[in-house]
Amino acid sequence: MYSLLITNEASLAVGNFRPYWRMLRRLCSVELMTNKRINETASIRRKCVDQMIRSIEDDVAAAKARGESRELNLPHYMFLMSFNLVGNLMLSRDLLDSQCKEGHELFQAMDKVMGWAGKPNIADFLPFLKWLDPQEMKRNMSRDLGRAMEIVAGFVKERIEEHKLGKEKAKDFLDVLLEHEGDGKEWHGKIPYEKEMFFWGSETTSTTVEWFMAELLSNPEAMRKVKEELNETLTLHPALPLLIPRNALQDTNFMGCHIPRDSQVFVNAWAIGRDPDSWEDPLACKPERFLKSNIDYKGQNFELIPFGSGRRICVGITLAHRVVTLGLASLIHNFDWELVNNVIPDTLDMSERIGITMRKLVPLIIIPKNVKECLEMHLVLVMYSLN
Ligand code: HEM
Repeated sequence: MYSLLITNEASLAVGNFRPYWRMLRRLCSVELMTNKRINETASIRRKCVDQMIRSIEDDVAAAKARGESRELNLPHYMFLMSFNLVGNLMLSRDLLDSQCKEGHELFQAMDKVMGWAGKPNIADFLPFLKWLDPQEMKRNMSRDLGRAMEIVAGFVKERIEEHKLGKEKAKDFLDVLLEHEGDGKEWHGKIPYEKEMFFWGSETTSTTVEWFMAELLSNPEAMRKVKEELNETLTLHPALPLLIPRNALQDTNFMGCHIPRDSQVFVNAWAIGRDPDSWEDPLACKPERFLKSNIDYKGQNFELIPFGSGRRICVGITLAHRVVTLGLASLIHNFDWELVNNVIPDTLDMSERIGITMRKLVPLIIIPKNVKECLEMHLVLVMYSLN
């Protein structure tokens, strides 16, 4: 479904393991995701998270002034923050704010796209039905992904026009891609790649933070063990529950199973995180299980692979971990959060919505209270952003 609008050849995420893909992956790892680069961009993360906190405060104050409810849709704010973060790294600019129409449209379109992408499509099992598109999946996906792509493409196009006019600004990742192309003839080949970074970077980050906050609010005891809680969230609620579908390049024997060449392979990270052979009492929220454990999320421990593993492991893993911890620390330390509509921790709906990413079925709508201002908070934030 994803390949409807981004061809496999131009994509880092679904591209085949070929020299072109290797070049894209290397560019991305070296120019964007090394520890040095990630440290250099700490101020950008700080700026984007600060903007998110400010817009929560402003929107809540405005709602209060209008006499309306102060409840807010947390994942929406986190999505905009992550989207702007990628915007700053890729195109040197903020792209969306919490009140802009495009931001809402994009968030809704991505929500639908992720839902369509995870729905079983009869035409995948009975290929002769493909032309008929009996569930209208292709049509719906084209419409929603098309709209999302159109919005992102508009931003990329504006930036390319600025590049052509030679406008002065700091070097960003689009410059790296364009410089790599030399004469710029193949700009179009790289643009889909720029666009997909927005999708993989924003949706996953906001989904992870939403689940984290939901776990915290349904289990106040865990609030005190925040760091371990993040590992627990990544285990129980991996943002991409089946990672990204992969194709077997050759006939393979995997632990006694024959996998024919060209088969589509899904790795069920969600089930692995709930496997009683790997985890004691897997469904219970027990962040303390990580206190004395060496297991982490970096792809070496196969019982916890929310970012995948091996050569297709998430290229944004270091950035993702930093932005998630900084975003969360800021949300927790700037506000007290309250559930709405008489929901109490025990009755908070934790159902999952099946899709390529796994958002909460019922979005986390909560009320921020009491803006906290203290030195301790700033110290904690500095600690997280340096981590
Ligand atoms: C909490 C946040 C995130 C999670 C849970 C996550 C998870 C993943 C997973 C599971 C994969 C597939 C790995 C595999 O198939 O083995 C992946 C791939 C990818 N991710 Fe992330 N991701 C996150 C954030 C980001 C960010 C912030 C970016 C970039 C700005 C990013 C960019 C990518 C790209 C480009 C790929 C494709 C890599 C390839 O196929 O070579 N991700 N991510």
